[in-house]
Amino acid sequence: MTNPSLLILPGDGIGQEVMAEVRKVIDWIGAKRDVTFDVSEDLVGGAAYDEHGVPLADETMAKAQEVDAVLLGAVGGPQYDDLDFSVKPERGLLRLRKEMDLFANLRPAQCFDALADFSSLKKDIVSGLDIMIVRELTSGVYFGEPRGISEVDGQRVGVNTQRYTEAEIERGARAAFELAMKRDKRLCSMEKANVMESGILWRDVVTEVSKDYPEVELSHMYADNGAMQLVRAPKQFDVIYTDNLFGDILSDCAAMLTGSLGMLPSASLGAPMENGRPKAMYEPVHGSAPDIAGEGKANPCACILSFAMALRYSFDMGAEADRLEAAVEKVLADGVRTGDLLNEAGVKPATTSEMGNAVIAALDASL
Ligand code: IPM
Ligand code: MG
Repeated sequence: MTNPSLLILPGDGIGQEVMAEVRKVIDWIGAKRDVTFDVSEDLVGGAAYDEHGVPLADETMAKAQEVDAVLLGAVGGPQYDDLDFSVKPERGLLRLRKEMDLFANLRPAQCFDALADFSSLKKDIVSGLDIMIVRELTSGVYFGEPRGISEVDGQRVGVNTQRYTEAEIERGARAAFELAMKRDKRLCSMEKANVMESGILWRDVVTEVSKDYPEVELSHMYADNGAMQLVRAPKQFDVIYTDNLFGDILSDCAAMLTGSLGMLPSASLGAPMENGRPKAMYEPVHGSAPDIAGEGKANPCACILSFAMALRYSFDMGAEADRLEAAVEKVLADGVRTGDLLNEAGVKPATTSEMGNAVIAALDASL
């Protein structure tokens, strides 16, 4: 078996500094668990634009197709706001998702005990929360044609198209049902079948797929009600399956239930490659946070936990993933906090690297 290979794309803003902490974790696992990761690093987003004039160079795209897993930091920043749409930093990320065909985006929202007080919701509503949003990631209104801004009857018209094929809905649904089978065996599918034909088709196809998973209890919900239920009683959910745009919005909403966007990892998975591993990219749900970039204030946990997902889903190292997640939990329980996890004035927040070092210390202690 060849060494597991990993392409690191720190990207922009805090992407750089959180990834430096993940590097420590990768080195730790390599040294202590006797595995050699072949790690390479490249540019994406604004950083790639600055160097190559495009948010993702073709060579980087080709590398991403070859490795076992891509680990991405974040893209974007105000200095790129005025760029042409086609070269905006986000286009680099969307190209990776599309060309690697990463159709299943797993966004777990788990409330760590130590952070239950930190949620904007009451503690009893979120404590013990453990839900998984599966967002379809390669189709829908993000990619549908026709799209664009054109002039019609003397005024500009903006067009985007929500379009889903049965096959696209089905493969994401299968991924969601498979996950539900490993969890609490409940799946809630969210769309707007009351106003959108694509929603009617979505509901139909998911219902059809459910026949192959008789043990999973399937329910359907309109996505607007889903948003409301997520803040009213989030623990009613186990796995949620939804489309690209609703998934973008609902996952931000679910993320905030847990206290901070700085804690949430994600995995974007595609079809299995020749070696049996799925095409995969892992990234924190938070963005590039330009307001704090370079100041050592960012929380590296979401990115570290994204690497834990890589250990689990790409590298078959579930025990090491558990160990890493437990290390993060221990650090939080010990009261180590970056600024995003603090609301008391006068408490000195940990820096990004202090947080990373604390995770390494917890890993050491776990041996
Ligand atoms: C996300 C982000 C992206 C999205 C942006 C950066 C293109 O919000 O991953 O949720 O809209 O998918
Ligand atoms: Mg988003």
